[in-house]
Amino acid sequence: MGSLLKSRDNLVVLKIGGSVITKKEDDTPEINRPNLNRIADEIGKVMSNRPEIKLIIIHGAGPFGHLYAKRYDLQLGLQSDRQIKGIGVTHRWMEWLNHEVVKTLQKNGVKAMPFQPSAGGIMSDGKLVQFPLNVVEKFLDLGLVIVSHGDVLLDNRTGIGILSGDHLAPYLAYNLRANRLILGTDVDGVFTADPKKDPNAKLVKDITPNTLEGLKIGGSNSTDVTGGMARKISELVGLADKGVASEIINIAKPGRLYKALMGDRMQGTLIHKA
Ligand SMILES: Nc1ncnc2c1ncn2[C@@H]1O[C@H](COP(=O)(O)OP(=O)(O)OP(=O)(O)O)[C@@H](O)[C@H]1O
Ligand SMILES: [Mg+2]
Repeated sequence: MGSLLKSRDNLVVLKIGGSVITKKEDDTPEINRPNLNRIADEIGKVMSNRPEIKLIIIHGAGPFGHLYAKRYDLQLGLQSDRQIKGIGVTHRWMEWLNHEVVKTLQKNGVKAMPFQPSAGGIMSDGKLVQFPLNVVEKFLDLGLVIVSHGDVLLDNRTGIGILSGDHLAPYLAYNLRANRLILGTDVDGVFTADPKKDPNAKLVKDITPNTLEGLKIGGSNSTDVTGGMARKISELVGLADKGVASEIINIAKPGRLYKALMGDRMQGTLIHKA
């Protein structure tokens, strides 16, 4: 078994946006199979070309999580008995998506290992305060690729809450001292305004905590209980402040994820400290 510190030099945390691997725009819990197959193929190729990489994958929910979380108002915290059933239902849909992601990765030669946040994680006001990091580390050290996801978690203050993949990915990158944090989504990066609504929006290649002003960063065009692009940026700028840089890239476009994981950091938006 390799030393843990050594492995962290090559540790990459990758968020796979639900917008890419599901039919998020349709608001039906359906997988986008061509995208999932291609992404798993790109990851498989990277892992055989660069076996030294330790990889944690966090996938978003798309409609699998957002639709059911909203149906049971889970994002509001625990307020009524009606929500209790929704905790298990929402989690089950996320597990189903996770199963499909893990299965597709395994078919492409990736030693993928599912990792369920709600079984060991606890939040306080939507922020993780407990997570079995030591278990994640030990699985990584065995050479497994952790595949975790957004989920419904216990919350010390609100009873229950939604753990966003956009919170979990930076949390893990920071606490496990990852070398890189890559957020893959369905747009080329951060634009001056939502590119799906404004045809004149321009890609911003570089963001620091001081250059945020003037950018019109919105939520998501689809059902998204965790805040879309605006949430990502607030998480990532906070992380940049703590010295951890991150990248937002378009993994709906073939080849971009492969290139990024092989070392290219210039394809989308880089968020870093000034
Ligand atoms: N200024 C902006 N620049 C880029 N995208 C923006 C901006 N403002 C809003 N958006 C929207 O944010 C969306 C990406 O966030 P969203 O949460 O929907 O995707 P995701 O994180 O990939 O999916 P999931 O949350 O299911 O994992 C884009 O599709 C885009 O429409
Ligand atoms: Mg989102």
